[in-house]
Amino acid sequence: EPKSYESEIYDNGLNFERPSISVDPSKWEPLAIERLSKDAAGYVYGSAGTRETTDKNHESYKRWSIIPNRLVKSDFPDLRTKLFGREYSFPIALGPVGVQRIVNPEGEHGSSKAATLEHVPYVISTAASMSFEEIAESSGPGERWYQLYWPSNENNDITASLLKRAKSIDCKVLVVTLDTYILGWRPSDMDNGYDPFLKPDKIGVALGLSDPVFRKRFKQEHGVEVEEDLHKAAREFSGIIFPGLSHDWEDLKFIRENWDGPIVLKGIQSVADAKKAAEFGVDGIVVSNHGGRQQDGGVASLTMLPKIVDAVGDKLEILFDSGIRSGSDIVKALALGAKMVLIGRPYIYGLGIAGTKGVRHVIRCLLGDLELTLHLSGVPSIAPEHLNRDLLLYEDH
Ligand code: FNR
Repeated sequence: EPKSYESEIYDNGLNFERPSISVDPSKWEPLAIERLSKDAAGYVYGSAGTRETTDKNHESYKRWSIIPNRLVKSDFPDLRTKLFGREYSFPIALGPVGVQRIVNPEGEHGSSKAATLEHVPYVISTAASMSFEEIAESSGPGERWYQLYWPSNENNDITASLLKRAKSIDCKVLVVTLDTYILGWRPSDMDNGYDPFLKPDKIGVALGLSDPVFRKRFKQEHGVEVEEDLHKAAREFSGIIFPGLSHDWEDLKFIRENWDGPIVLKGIQSVADAKKAAEFGVDGIVVSNHGGRQQDGGVASLTMLPKIVDAVGDKLEILFDSGIRSGSDIVKALALGAKMVLIGRPYIYGLGIAGTKGVRHVIRCLLGDLELTLHLSGVPSIAPEHLNRDLLLYEDH
């Protein structure tokens, strides 16, 4: 059972031994970049265009200030959150991140194992560099979700196969990413001449290349097995999962017919789209701009969060990501109405630095910092009656 992170990490850090990796989240990025290959560092750190959307994500947290409550008698804060009728120990999950073997040979094994050990859900990406079955093995009894990169309607057989495989390893929630029907304009990758999806000899989109429907079709069309022309297979699978703007809202029917659990749309940034999501009957949304990796010149994801919560918070479960780097960032997103936040780059930096151990360190630091920040703010739990906008002041400086 999870206990207080704060007491363990803080006491240890102050009184007993220095941690092998810094507790300071601003140190993880430079440390990881130093250790990764130039290509991998560029891919993970990279953002769209001028990085305007990414920069705005980070600036946005500073516009909201936490105004603490005094003389609130309470135990250490209760971090449990309810989502889709299920209870979660903590309000964070490891968000979907593809091709993780580019940062560490442990790849998705390392991060999914860490998620299980720290009692947080793990979201498997369609661009994972390991198969469903391999990830299920390393995450064991932990909670898994599946993130779909949605093939066009002509490839509904592949979509159905991916959903069926996700179900077969007991993924509880389906996350359909809507902002990545084509990859963003990312100068770092273009300067490095690097597309991790097309390097199957080293990494590969193994989850896709192991799909039986995809494999059968590839063999029929080309007369060879996937393994006999990995480069072509990777290129084809990439084309299938990044098909351009090939869907409209009506197509969600197919997803609903092929998935009997909660469906969450990831990448919502406008109030109008959030209302459409509610109208088309999904269960939740992730207010996200993909960490600023897709469309440049955008709005900070946090800026849209309260507007979207006001519009549809009573109809949909609202999750949030983009730019979360600390406990106070999480407090702000939860106070603005998110039920859970997804962590992106920070855990990938942890994976790059020290595999499973590094990811566990990142999760524990974020949770410890979250716990102590709430405690110092006089907030006894993250339930909306205790943690809401009354805690925050907006300063437009
Ligand atoms: C991502 N993200 C992502 N999202 C998704 O839906 N499917 C995916 O396969 C990936 N892959 C991916 C790779 C890398 C290297 C990064 C950094 C991100 C986006 C991710 O889920 C999340 O939305 C952002 O990372 C959140 O922003 P921060 O926390 O990185 O600022």
